[in-house]
Amino acid sequence: MTVLTSTPTREARILGVGAHRPPRVIDNEEVCTWIESSDEWIQQRTGIKTRHWAAPDVSVVDMSEDAGAKALAAAGLTGSDVDAVVLATVSYPMQTPAGAAVVAHRLGATPAAAFDISAGCAGFCHGVALATDLVRAGSARNVLVIGAEKLSDFTDKHDRSTAFLFADGAGAVVVGQSTEVGIAPTVWGSDGGQADLIRSKFPWTDLRTGGPDVLATEAAQWPYLEQQGQSVFRWAVWQMAPVAQAALDAAGVTAEQIDVFVPHQANARIIDAMVKQLKLPESVHVARDIVDMGNTSAASIPLALERAMADGDAPSGGLALLIGYGAGLSYAAQVVRLP
Ligand SMILES: CC(C)(COP(=O)(O)OP(=O)(O)OC[C@H]1O[C@@H](n2cnc3c(N)ncnc32)[C@H](O)[C@@H]1OP(=O)(O)O)[C@@H](O)C(=O)NCCC(=O)NCCS
Repeated sequence: MTVLTSTPTREARILGVGAHRPPRVIDNEEVCTWIESSDEWIQQRTGIKTRHWAAPDVSVVDMSEDAGAKALAAAGLTGSDVDAVVLATVSYPMQTPAGAAVVAHRLGATPAAAFDISAGCAGFCHGVALATDLVRAGSARNVLVIGAEKLSDFTDKHDRSTAFLFADGAGAVVVGQSTEVGIAPTVWGSDGGQADLIRSKFPWTDLRTGGPDVLATEAAQWPYLEQQGQSVFRWAVWQMAPVAQAALDAAGVTAEQIDVFVPHQANARIIDAMVKQLKLPESVHVARDIVDMGNTSAASIPLALERAMADGDAPSGGLALLIGYGAGLSYAAQVVRLP
């Protein structure tokens, strides 16, 4: 029998983090010109004060390129060091080719493997899981993992359940080789039985064939994102803290040993509930990028991580607990060592 060869297993860690925050800031007052609401209600129910929306001519790929270039610079690497680019997004409007291939080309990473993944707001943590295993198995030296969204393209400004929530941005990390464990096992999963809780209003094909909702009203002419807010809220609050705890257990650490908690920035009240259930001590910094960035789906965790590091709230070499959850329903959590 012919013996196959493989590179010896090595460990993986995050080498650098980068972010792109679109310059245009939208405050709650502006949102209230679209929907009947108030600054007070939005802040109380979500914690959001402002969000950033990208300019019409700025794409998911543009934002990914910027965040990716910054992550590479932070890692002291260039595009030619990258063997794979993984782009987590739900709002890149090209069915094919993958945005990741264009990003790889722009960053000089060609011929890196490049592909997009769709796991809603859990997409970035799925990307980190894939990158870790690619590096550990020897399939890639360095993997650029990007979470990028232009949710403003898919947000119905007149929908009272989403207009105040969604926003744009991109965050990226480089996952590379390490002699010690820098990314602990990922705890992840999905529940397609609840797929209707957060979704596009209808499939793209309905635009051609005219599904039941299409063309009924102006808002129905575009597959905007819709959600059943209360059900999502309850699922996140009750089901996600045990997943975060399982990620701590899989890493062999306790809540006291974590330096920073970076949950998906969906809603400040969900974050508060998770902090309480996990019994995180005061010493753990809790990322609250949502206050001025809104909910940026797959981009929210790397954006919040970058902010915590830039502000000095996430010490170099410290431990961060990441958890993403959302459309699918899907979720993924892992403990990582900070670069
Ligand atoms: C969206 C969300 C903020 C809505 O808050 P909620 O408390 O569930 O709101 P409800 O739909 O139950 O409505 C409660 C009240 O607020 C009102 N309301 C709803 N939307 C409103 C808005 N945009 N502005 C002002 N009032 C609003 C309702 O009319 C209702 O009033 P009533 O009590 O007089 O009938 C909340 O459900 C949420 O954050 N869910 C999770 C969403 C999320 O994280 N999604 C992404 C996951 S990745």
